[in-house]
Amino acid sequence: MKENDVIIKDVAEILHDRKHLAYVRSFGCQLNVSDGEKIKGLLKRIGYDFTDDEKQADIIILNTCAVRESAEERVFGIIGSMKKLKEENPSLIIGLAGCMTAQAHITEKIKKSYPQIDFVMGTSAINSLPKLLLDCLRGEKFSADTGEYDDFSENTEQVRESKFKASVPIMFGCNNFCTYCIVPYVRGRERSRKPEDIINEVKNLVSKGYKEIMLLGQNVNSYGKDLGNNMTFPELLRETDKIDGDFIIRFMSSHPKDASRELIDTIFSSKKIARHFHLPLQSGSNSVLERMNRRYTIEQYLETVDYMRSYDPDFSLTTDIIVGFPNETDEEFRETLDIIKRIRYDNIYSFIYSRRTGTKASEIADTIPEEVKSRRMRELLEVQRTVSTENYRRFVGRRMRVLVDGISKKRNGYVTGKSDEFIIAEFVGDRSMIGSFVEIEVTDSMNWAVTGRII
Ligand code: SAH
Ligand code: SF4
Ligand code: F3S
Repeated sequence: MKENDVIIKDVAEILHDRKHLAYVRSFGCQLNVSDGEKIKGLLKRIGYDFTDDEKQADIIILNTCAVRESAEERVFGIIGSMKKLKEENPSLIIGLAGCMTAQAHITEKIKKSYPQIDFVMGTSAINSLPKLLLDCLRGEKFSADTGEYDDFSENTEQVRESKFKASVPIMFGCNNFCTYCIVPYVRGRERSRKPEDIINEVKNLVSKGYKEIMLLGQNVNSYGKDLGNNMTFPELLRETDKIDGDFIIRFMSSHPKDASRELIDTIFSSKKIARHFHLPLQSGSNSVLERMNRRYTIEQYLETVDYMRSYDPDFSLTTDIIVGFPNETDEEFRETLDIIKRIRYDNIYSFIYSRRTGTKASEIADTIPEEVKSRRMRELLEVQRTVSTENYRRFVGRRMRVLVDGISKKRNGYVTGKSDEFIIAEFVGDRSMIGSFVEIEVTDSMNWAVTGRII
């Protein structure tokens, strides 16, 4: 860190007589958004202000995602369009960060074919940003740091996107190697932050008025295993729950194979943990789950769901589904539809399978045509629409606590927010409510939200 202070001073001195505006854009999951907030923190220390308009920027950082091909194509499209910006403003600095940078074939391609990119910064090399910038300012054509560092940037100031909702990563990396997934390759093995660092961060956020704390990890259930088991995830949750203040605790994601009864008991005996669980299913077919290396069966998954619903039959669940995993048969797909109807998720996040170089599944020769995959996707969404419409009716006439997060874009005079159950709620309100909890009574429901009135 000391060394970085010196470099930051050097960079600040070079920039001293210029205007400096930074444009940082994060793609992908909330962990990546959280990294983007750290990148912004470092830029702020150097002396940058921020802009939402890339045309105004003196430095642009694209914090990328590699989880599906479409995510990468989007970034390549944006990089392409930045060539013109660079021609108009040769002193503009453009850097690439995030998960795409961890793939050698991508960094090679960038170096060879995209001269508008000045530097590449790996997912665990955020603290190298000042050094990479210094290289650029001293005239280096291209610099890169994609090294793997065991550094959580514990003392890095963050420029957070929200004044009332905060993401708190509790661990980085993943050990699960689901056969379709690139994350373990681009984010490395599981590394947990120390419990005291996490608790202190949450206390600090709550004292600043944050109302929602989202604990993040690729599989939060294996939190602490690399720390010699001096604290498990349910224990960490109980410690977080003890912190004084008016706030809600959420967490993401949970691997179903590790969602223990202790964890579920912890939710229901807590004061502040949301009564909602995001439990990625991926497929409703045991044979597909096996090919995905998910290491649970549908029967085990249902047992977990039944246990949650033994506490509360209406307990709110959401999930992730992959459609069109290599050689998924019609019958296997039907099994997914059946499970979705049976579990009655409030919401599903569904994705068409995307082949990722380097993963096990990418070696399977796939015989399912693209149009079959698209048709399955449409069918899945149709089934879920019906389930959500029916499900959301259960809230009508009930009370809900909602954290208001903005003005409704759909209805004039309405505000929008998320209920404790992670349901979108809209009701008549005004800007002054943004960032606070409001109690409402639900008066009506749709397939994507409920409406209500303030009590
Ligand atoms: N660690 C989290 C999620 C990681 S990525 C978890 O295990 O739940 C978020 C979601 O993207 C996954 O749950 C999966 O549904 C989807 N996904 C990951 N790799 C994919 C791929 N190659 N093609 C399509 N969807 C994918
Ligand atoms: Fe990917 Fe599986 Fe790890 Fe989630 S648990 S990040 S899906 S490998
Ligand atoms: Fe994407 Fe990386 Fe997250 S691949 S989903 S940004 S961990």
